[in-house]
Amino acid sequence: MSHRICLLPGDGIGPEVIAQAERVLAALDLKIEFERGDIGYGAYKKHGTPLPEATLESIRSSDATLFGAVTTPPDIPGYFSPVVRMRQTLDLYANVRPCRSFNHPTSRPGIDLVIVRENTEDLYSGVERVEDDGNRAIGEMIITRRASEKISRKAFEVAQAEGRHKVTIVHKANVLRETCGLFRRTALEVASDYPDIHTEEMLVDTCAMELVRAPEQFEVIVTTNLFGDILSDEASMLVGGLGVACSGNIGAQAAVFEPVHGSAPSLAGKHTANPSATFLSAAMMLDHIGEPIHAGRLRRAVFDCVGQQDVTPDLGGTLSTEQVTDRILSALEKIPERK
Ligand code: NAI
Ligand code: MG
Repeated sequence: MSHRICLLPGDGIGPEVIAQAERVLAALDLKIEFERGDIGYGAYKKHGTPLPEATLESIRSSDATLFGAVTTPPDIPGYFSPVVRMRQTLDLYANVRPCRSFNHPTSRPGIDLVIVRENTEDLYSGVERVEDDGNRAIGEMIITRRASEKISRKAFEVAQAEGRHKVTIVHKANVLRETCGLFRRTALEVASDYPDIHTEEMLVDTCAMELVRAPEQFEVIVTTNLFGDILSDEASMLVGGLGVACSGNIGAQAAVFEPVHGSAPSLAGKHTANPSATFLSAAMMLDHIGEPIHAGRLRRAVFDCVGQQDVTPDLGGTLSTEQVTDRILSALEKIPERK
């Protein structure tokens, strides 16, 4: 079966890491038709918008999308974050971020967790206003039963699909009684549909602390948008940092996979960007489109190369972006296609 994959290179190091992912995907024994879309500051300069309608259409009509990163320039009136807009427009309601230990000095051992973050509402709803001549700024934290239920179900489905045994519901319902209270109640209701999975709840500040103290206790964390944003960046630093942190934005009609990092403008053109986060995002994408064997091979190739110190300078290595890809391609040749 042939897959249609939309590539969104974006700005800065985005096009560099996406080009490497295209090399790797092309080397797998898969039929993939690639199509490209514009996004980010470059798209704004070309089309007058950082997220052209044609790009949204490409994402909608593809089986999945692999996105690099964008630069969001400050101080352009009317400019909006195309990433947040894309997630909201396409209802990519689940942001899934796995964190697994690497055999590498920058990674702590024993960690294998997934953060499942609500991706469309909360304080990121974009409902803000100023009062008192600009001296008071107010943002609305919007939590709905519908979104809380969908994200909770997703978290338990991820747990089931990956053979995990525990889901931790993270909130701050002791203080944010209505908003987090609704999220908490809804998540606990959903949990009762999954009696085989152990459910626990934790306040977000405790969770931030526990992630540093004993991260191996977590299997699946489900939480609201802002808390998930912060906790997932924190968790990524336990296992090697932004150069290896991958994610998926998943909805019912579309899915966009992307490295967690931004466009790293200071690295652009220097051939030192770590492409591993994009490769691992591509592996998540392969799982999503029903190619788990190729996903597993690619993931293993990345873990092997990191373990052998075949890495870029951010992980203490000396290889260029392209040389890491070369090593991944040779590692793939040694990993059999069968399970
Ligand atoms: P960033 O993630 O681009 O960089 C943070 C630090 O990590 C920098 O020191 C950078 O050199 C390093 N880094 C990032 N990716 C790396 C990689 N693949 N290999 C090696 N080192 C890497 O975040 P920053 O600097 O805060 O933002 C830069 C731009 O990216 C901004 O315009 C920001 O708005 C945008 N951004 C975009 C995101 C997206 O497209 N989803 C996410 C985060 C930021
Ligand atoms: Mg972030």
